Amino acid sequence: MTPMSADTALARITTALHRRGLTLDTPPAAPLPRGSYAHRGGPGEPGDPAWHHQQRVEVALERWQRLTPPRYTHARTTHPGVSAWADSVAADQRTAPSLLLWGPTGTGKTHHAFAATHRIAQAGPPRFALTFTTHPDLYSALRPGGHDDGERERTMRRLLATPLLVLDDLGTARESEWTGEILYRVINHRYNQQLPTLITTNHAPAALPGVLGDRIASRLIQMTTRIEITGPDRRLTR
Ligand SMILES: Nc1ncnc2c1ncn2[C@@H]1O[C@H](COP(=O)(O)OP(=O)(O)OP(=O)(O)O)[C@@H](O)[C@H]1O
Ligand SMILES: [Mg+2]
Repeated sequence: MTPMSADTALARITTALHRRGLTLDTPPAAPLPRGSYAHRGGPGEPGDPAWHHQQRVEVALERWQRLTPPRYTHARTTHPGVSAWADSVAADQRTAPSLLLWGPTGTGKTHHAFAATHRIAQAGPPRFALTFTTHPDLYSALRPGGHDDGERERTMRRLLATPLLVLDDLGTARESEWTGEILYRVINHRYNQQLPTLITTNHAPAALPGVLGDRIASRLIQMTTRIEITGPDRRLTR
């Protein structure tokens, strides 16, 4: 077996950690001689902050690409308000607000949602984890009967705790007592934990209490920056 150099071993370990969303990026206090076991490389090598940033960008973009449906893989931010929101999430997920994009059908809300998450990935945050669901899919994944209890519990935990949740088409699902409870659990948890959530809806903010009830709407209004997306239905004007 050919012995592996310390540099190669470190590069492999660092890359493997990055693929799992972890970092090993604390450089030593003083540079050690090249070839020693703790050597951190110069520009473009493990230990160089720019190298680690580039690794994070690549891993995040790879995840984004995997999660994004083909129709939206070309989506890039062009809306200043959406870009500003994405930048606030990239800067610090703990302090960023959530975002509510609202407007008529076909104006580009889902496009902007994927564009925003691409911009966040492109910034190379320390951990990029994204969950995307539509409102009807959320209920269908959690409805008893379709999936076993363990599977539903894992889905619920992911929806509650994912660092970044996109909830598309809010207000398009048929509501019942059960769905109201599920949606309340998701929104209330993300509200309490201040976890960034990007919501799209055809409903104006003032209509949300009538569609989702006062308790959910009240939380949504407080936790989100709201942007109206206007224009023609792009599906009909292409
Ligand atoms: N800025 C844009 N540049 C290029 N294509 C766009 C842009 N915005 C939207 N589109 C395209 O227009 C179509 C409609 O956009 P999208 O699906 O985002 O609309 P929507 O507002 O989410 O509609 P709905 O409310 O029905 O869900 C899609 O094919 C999308 O790829
Ligand atoms: Mg949409």
